[in-house]
Amino acid sequence: MQRPLLIDTDTASDDAVALIMALRSPLVKVVAVTVVAGNVPVEQATRNALVAVELCGARVPVYAGAAKPLNRELEPATWFHGMDGLGDCGYAPSHPEPEPTDAVDAIIAAALEHPGLEIITLGPLTNLAQAIAREPRIIANISRCVVMGGAPCCEGNVTPAAEFNIWVDPEAARAVLLSGLPIELVGWQLSRYEAVLNADDIAQILALNTPLAQFAIRCNGRAREAYLEQTGEHGISLPDPIAMAILLEPQLALQTSDHFVEVETASPLTRGMTVVDKLNVTADERNAAAWSNTRQSSHKTTIIWELDIPGWKRLLLRSLGGL
Ligand code: BDR
Ligand code: CA
Repeated sequence: MQRPLLIDTDTASDDAVALIMALRSPLVKVVAVTVVAGNVPVEQATRNALVAVELCGARVPVYAGAAKPLNRELEPATWFHGMDGLGDCGYAPSHPEPEPTDAVDAIIAAALEHPGLEIITLGPLTNLAQAIAREPRIIANISRCVVMGGAPCCEGNVTPAAEFNIWVDPEAARAVLLSGLPIELVGWQLSRYEAVLNADDIAQILALNTPLAQFAIRCNGRAREAYLEQTGEHGISLPDPIAMAILLEPQLALQTSDHFVEVETASPLTRGMTVVDKLNVTADERNAAAWSNTRQSSHKTTIIWELDIPGWKRLLLRSLGGL
């Protein structure tokens, strides 16, 4: 039986590849795609989600959601993904209309309708935080919540401390992380180094000679240049598809452990930092004031520390072949 899945995304170039992986997987049935402002404004992100759905020939409803973070203005990542988020190649959906319902209501409806629903978030957590606040009963119905976000090793891509999805809306991220949802955190560091698509991987994908394979590489053209500027590493880094790989095939997470996690919302230096209590020192009296909320919830987050890199690349290849 296919597992019901809802994807929340600020659809840009790596999100689009993650959407394709889910839409083509026999393991899950995507019940809804909900869109949030992040990499690009929400209208553009919604158009991009529709492009990916259409390319797969899928019939999945797409809902537009929050246009800005809970308490802040949107600071997008167009420098990284291109002005349209898809590398400025001119991609546009032929049926540009999303569903009339708001994404937050769509998340609530999907969770109430599908007990055991799995959710993956590929962008800022604004939509999900609002859904939980509006209808807390959904928490009990969500069996897994995979979050692409965070920098548990303190190696951020926006600041030294913070990864983009958490940094954009730290208040929303904090609300979700402390909500009691069963969260698996897929940090940005997992998409670096050997996990990056190198020249051979890219050649292998292009050799599939399918429209999906061509799209996946082409729409990430600007992201490839930007990643080189940012890290000095060559190739295409794909954080959202890696999170999707772990959602689809949990055994690709080779090393995991559960910890209390907090998100910094106040400090300009460490805004959006995912602070992981790896040594369980928050039980110490000296942490009582700062960590009491988190410890009271007695809820830990699963952190993914190690990825099966050959396995992730094999899954990506399978997803892009055939169509
Ligand atoms: C995350 O930020 C976005 O730019 C990507 O789509 C991904 O979700 C990586 O930090
Ligand atoms: Ca994203």
